[in-house]
Amino acid sequence: MKPIRVGLLGLGTVGTGVVRIVEGHQSDLQSQVGSEVIIEKVLVKNVDKSRSISVPHHKMTDNAWDIIRDPDINIIVEVMGGIETTKEYLLEALERGKHVVTANKDLMALHGPEILAKAKEHQCDVFYEASVAGGIPIIRTLSEGFSSDRILKIMGIVNGTTNFILTKMSQEGASYADVLKEAQELGYAEADPTSDVEGLDAARKMAILGTLGFRANVALEDVSVRGISSVSKEDILYAKRLGYEVKLLGIAERQDEHISLSVQPTMIRKSHPIASVNGVFNAVYVHGEAVGETMFYGAGAGEMPTATSVVADLVAVIKNLKLGVNGQQAIVTYKEKKLKTDEQIEYKNFILLHVQDKAGVLARITQVFAEFEVSLASVLQQPNPDNPEAEIIIITHDASKASMDKVLKHFEQLDVIRKIKSVYRVEG
Ligand code: NAP
Ligand code: HSE
Repeated sequence: MKPIRVGLLGLGTVGTGVVRIVEGHQSDLQSQVGSEVIIEKVLVKNVDKSRSISVPHHKMTDNAWDIIRDPDINIIVEVMGGIETTKEYLLEALERGKHVVTANKDLMALHGPEILAKAKEHQCDVFYEASVAGGIPIIRTLSEGFSSDRILKIMGIVNGTTNFILTKMSQEGASYADVLKEAQELGYAEADPTSDVEGLDAARKMAILGTLGFRANVALEDVSVRGISSVSKEDILYAKRLGYEVKLLGIAERQDEHISLSVQPTMIRKSHPIASVNGVFNAVYVHGEAVGETMFYGAGAGEMPTATSVVADLVAVIKNLKLGVNGQQAIVTYKEKKLKTDEQIEYKNFILLHVQDKAGVLARITQVFAEFEVSLASVLQQPNPDNPEAEIIIITHDASKASMDKVLKHFEQLDVIRKIKSVYRVEG
């Protein structure tokens, strides 16, 4: 059988892992696909950079077109990152009949439909398992494993950096700023960690999971986003006292054919399995109408876990090549997207208020909730030796986002409230 020749775009963290697995597991790969798998050429920015693996110099290039226009290369593995230029490379590769494997969530969340349409037009495969939750095979699970079911809810810790930060704040009482610095030093966070901490990275991943789970084209703009930069040690302490952990959760829900997607710091009951996912680990909880509750856990980033998913995609493309069935993407976004309105989005809320400590304050506050038909599950006044004002913690029953927005707007004008200290979604 002719060898399969692969063009690798990128030899950084993930690309290095891809080379290690293709070389280290070559005999297993050959047994599975019936051909030798050869990394034919590798694109890098700097061909002279010293690297932790050795790739023959003649295979390295800093010109992407050397790879994309090479007629001997059947498959492009894109692990270089970037959006617009990378899209241009992949679209041309597909036009030339080359199959694509990518780990690029930024690209797939923004331009997935265009890339998949081009792949279909040219009967090519595009697989992107590593783009969400690194080593956890969640994309194949949603598109194939649950193809017979109707997904009701997907709840994910899909950003390792923020989970590392929140875990350290919870377990060690560390401050946000200190742990962020540590996450950067350990190489988890990006040099500019904004997309991690402000939730954009997780939102992109949730757009991909929502598209697969709900079989509808979910765009990044459909995901409401709030990051973790405003989460304080105090909030985490309160959450723990009440039996919750604070996690940056991506939540995609379906009810009566209407969907909603969000990424926000959420108080999740400690008894929920996702509450105990700590450090840089990721987990995705999926609730299907027929299957019930399931959860998938593992490394969401890093060289070898991410490369495992990339090379598994490579194997899938090669198996399709052998069978002559490329370009038959398992998932079809055949559902019309119907987004929930703010009146239809409902969940429980935690609200921490700093208020004047005098008679009648609580009555005025509860009156506002009553006015907007938000029902309360519990109200607690906590003494705080560091705070001469009273601290009131309120947990609501399920309330619409629209009503809660009105309550909070009203609170901003209420003279007895000194500060709306924090507001969190509550799950479980
Ligand atoms: P990385 O370590 O920064 O590596 C990027 C590689 O691409 C480098 O080898 C770089 O060349 C090369 N490169 C970048 N831009 C280039 C350009 N314009 N022209 C030529 N070469 C270029 O990135 P990574 O962490 O491996 O991530 C790669 C992709 O996987 C990204 O889309 C990322 O979102 C995704 N991903 C990463 C992880 C993870 O754990 N790291 C997990 C899941 C998904 P030089 O080596 O010469 O600089
Ligand atoms: N910055 C990302 C994270 C890398 O922290 O999860 C994996 O996509």
